[in-house]
Amino acid sequence: MRLFGNRRASRAKQEPKPLLELHDLTKIYRQGRVEVPALTGVTLKVWPGEFVAIMGPSGSGKSTLMNMIGCLDRPTSGKYLLDGSDAGQMSDARLADIRNRKIGFVFQSFNLLGRMNAIHNVMLPLMYCRGPRPPRSAARHALETVGLAHRVKHTPMELSGGEQQRVAIARALINDPPIIFGDEPTGNLDTKNSVEIMAVLQRLNDAGKTIVMVTHEQEIAEHAKRILRFRDGKLESDEQVTARRVAVPASAATQSGAAAG
Ligand SMILES: Nc1ncnc2c1ncn2[C@@H]1O[C@H](COP(=O)(O)OP(=O)(O)OP(=O)(O)O)[C@@H](O)[C@H]1O
Ligand SMILES: [Mg+2]
Repeated sequence: MRLFGNRRASRAKQEPKPLLELHDLTKIYRQGRVEVPALTGVTLKVWPGEFVAIMGPSGSGKSTLMNMIGCLDRPTSGKYLLDGSDAGQMSDARLADIRNRKIGFVFQSFNLLGRMNAIHNVMLPLMYCRGPRPPRSAARHALETVGLAHRVKHTPMELSGGEQQRVAIARALINDPPIIFGDEPTGNLDTKNSVEIMAVLQRLNDAGKTIVMVTHEQEIAEHAKRILRFRDGKLESDEQVTARRVAVPASAATQSGAAAG
């Protein structure tokens, strides 16, 4: 009997669980007496290994949603479970800790420190890390992962926009978090550099990272596996991408073109 019970317990453990789970989530900003509803009754799940693009007009609540799921702000009501833990019940210290370990952030403006070279920018989050810190070699490895092994000593001014964003992605990877959140990570980049960034994100997703990314561009969104559309703070649609785009970086295209020619 006991054996049967244990077997059932272990089977239950193996069932996939959502990584992010939102139930009737609402965010109302208060400005004096005025209430600004930014999110209204959002319910959704994101599963491990997904690559989700968030779209919607300006002011529809995309960044507010990213702030909630990234534990940078708290909802006004509703529930948010991150990897099964109720974020609403966590202390600020626990939220900060979970953010450090589980989530890497990438923003539209790369937020690199101008005086520091690439490897030092990547190592920045380690200053806030509790417990054993990843070594310097982890920063080097993160830069290799985004294809910048040859740029470790360059400062942001000595890098292109796309390279700067790749340094920011390497910085997001330094604690090896299972989730990457991007709020318009290609918003400041031209098409060529945007495709380079999508190639990096698709590679990370193939390697098992779960990615949630805001974008205004349909073409960029089609590099994801699923598109959520927001309007007036509400989830308007939730669709799988049927004809997914595969990002081919210009450098690789040139090489294969040369090989073919
Ligand atoms: N800190 C704040 N205080 C008050 N209102 C806010 C605050 N942040 C956002 N809002 C309002 O909440 C709504 C949603 O804003 P949010 O930044 O989430 O939109 P968004 O979809 O990211 O837009 P964009 O595409 O322009 O970045 C907007 O009406 C905005 O004015
Ligand atoms: Mg925004």
